[in-house]
Amino acid sequence: MKRIFHYLKKYAFLAVLSPLLMIGEVFADLCLPKLMTVIVDCGIAAGGDVSGSKLGSTVMRILFGEGTYSSMQVIITFGILMLVVVLIGGFFGVMCAYCAAKASQGVGDDLRRDAYAKVMSLSIEQTDKFTTGSLVTRMTNDVTMIIEFVEMLLRMLVRSPMFFIGGLIMLMTLDFSFGIVMLCALPVMALMLFFVLGRAIPIYSKIQLKLDRLNCVVQENVTGARVIKAYVKEDYESKRFEAANADLRDTNVKVQRIMAVMHPVLTVVMNAAIIAVIYIGGWQIDNVGGTGMTAGTIMAAITYITQVLMSIMMVTMMFQSISRAMASVRRVNEVLDTDPVIVSGNVTKTEGEIAVSMSNVSFRYPETTGRPVLHDINIEIKKGETFAIIGATGSGKTSLVNLIPRFYDATEGEVRIDGEPIANYDLHALRQKIAFVMQKSELFSGTIAENLRWGKEDATDGEIKQAARIAQAEDFVLSFNEGYDAYIAEKGASLSGGQKQRMSIARALVRRPEILILDDATSALDLSTEGKLRAALKTELKGTTVIMIAQRIASVKDADRIAVIDHGTIKDCGSHEYLLEHSETYRDIYSSQMKNGGVVNE
Ligand code: GTP
Ligand code: MG
Repeated sequence: MKRIFHYLKKYAFLAVLSPLLMIGEVFADLCLPKLMTVIVDCGIAAGGDVSGSKLGSTVMRILFGEGTYSSMQVIITFGILMLVVVLIGGFFGVMCAYCAAKASQGVGDDLRRDAYAKVMSLSIEQTDKFTTGSLVTRMTNDVTMIIEFVEMLLRMLVRSPMFFIGGLIMLMTLDFSFGIVMLCALPVMALMLFFVLGRAIPIYSKIQLKLDRLNCVVQENVTGARVIKAYVKEDYESKRFEAANADLRDTNVKVQRIMAVMHPVLTVVMNAAIIAVIYIGGWQIDNVGGTGMTAGTIMAAITYITQVLMSIMMVTMMFQSISRAMASVRRVNEVLDTDPVIVSGNVTKTEGEIAVSMSNVSFRYPETTGRPVLHDINIEIKKGETFAIIGATGSGKTSLVNLIPRFYDATEGEVRIDGEPIANYDLHALRQKIAFVMQKSELFSGTIAENLRWGKEDATDGEIKQAARIAQAEDFVLSFNEGYDAYIAEKGASLSGGQKQRMSIARALVRRPEILILDDATSALDLSTEGKLRAALKTELKGTTVIMIAQRIASVKDADRIAVIDHGTIKDCGSHEYLLEHSETYRDIYSSQMKNGGVVNE
């Protein structure tokens, strides 16, 4: 909760003003029954004789001077007075609500922004641990709960106690015996509150967890819609969704069932109290002369009792909101309190002959045990070199290149770029040096040009076209009616696999990186397109260090050096010819691919 107040500090003025305005509203509400008493007692019952009421005689004297007044005169005067008080109260109420809304939405906005920035700064392993669904719930639903709570707090914090205390005081001033009625009613209410809230609060934190689960399922199903259709798994997935949905519903129903007790109990207590007041009041009028008990007093007492008991109801709602918000605050705090494991250094510019070097590097994915995914990696890649990595699926190729832009940090050993340990680099500067074409192309909804500009925001049209040309993407881009302005759907769904790969390569080239990493980036291209792409890369990217992962020998055989990776370590390293002679693993790959149609020689 401390954090909420910390965020609220920025809106301190509104946060203070709002309860102050609320005092005005409550004050007006508390005045109304008193005015009503004058109308009933003096205006109606006494035919305009205000001598029985101090308030009535004072107001009438100020407005109309001494004398006698007609019944209508009293009723209309106090009627108008009530209207004025209602309007003033209403004005305060609206202003209070406005201030509370502005402050709470401001807090929510700041919280969301900070949580989002935090999520963006977290490493892949950390976001994976939270799960996407949960992060989305935390940033939307949980923040909304907090907003509602802050708003409630600003409005009700003053309102309920004021109604409660003010109502009690007003009730006592009417007649002391009415206070006794309240004394009997309050313990019943307190007991109910204790029982209801004690049971409901623990369930609220469960609701958020169930919501996480539901979001997770929906997210997976929506993004994986194609696979679900392909495997005809609609029924299975519907069931999974149904289960998560029913779970959420049941938990909600459970808490609502508990909360449902409250209203009937309140109504019974309230009506019992009203009956008691009428009975006590009536008995006094009949049997005890001179107590000043009148019909108007009884009416006012009923209104005050309602206000007092309603204020208790409001407190309950506040507790309900607090308990929900507590669960949400805890969840948002978990995000805000997570320290990014990849911490940025401050080196921004470096020059060196060795573009990338790794010494004695071993790596294990966080929170996994057993054999490390990579071990004893020692490589030195020179500036401008084309370095290829080949190896069986699952041998650790992607994991190896993931260490270069610090998607993960090596468990042991050191990775250097231009001779500088990568931990010293400013993260932004480090990643700016590198363009990474991932194994799985990720594009975003937008035009082709917009997607390519991801590589470099201020790229000119010429640069974009050139990158597309090198990546062999120009042909298919121009085949669209709108060319570079053609719109591509979410995640690039409107492009073929090979088109997506070429778009990703072009996007990387637009950046003109110092180091270009291609992780199996040409796997979906036919051999002739791939050949053209390789030739274009060779002539156009003279100074660029290229690290290229591939499964096919044909893709790597022109590289300056090829590293053969096997079970997480580099078995052999050298040129195509050298490896053919000296590496058994490489020869095995070579002969297996030769057998499958002689693709090596294109
Ligand atoms: P292909 O892309 O199929 O050619 O394989 P690769 O050589 O790129 O293998 P990669 O480096 O992706 O994986 C090596 C090993 O690490 C595999 O056994 C994976 O199970 C494991 N691995 C890969 N990614 C992750 C990850 O994000 N978390 C964990 N815990 N393990 C991973
Ligand atoms: Mg891979």
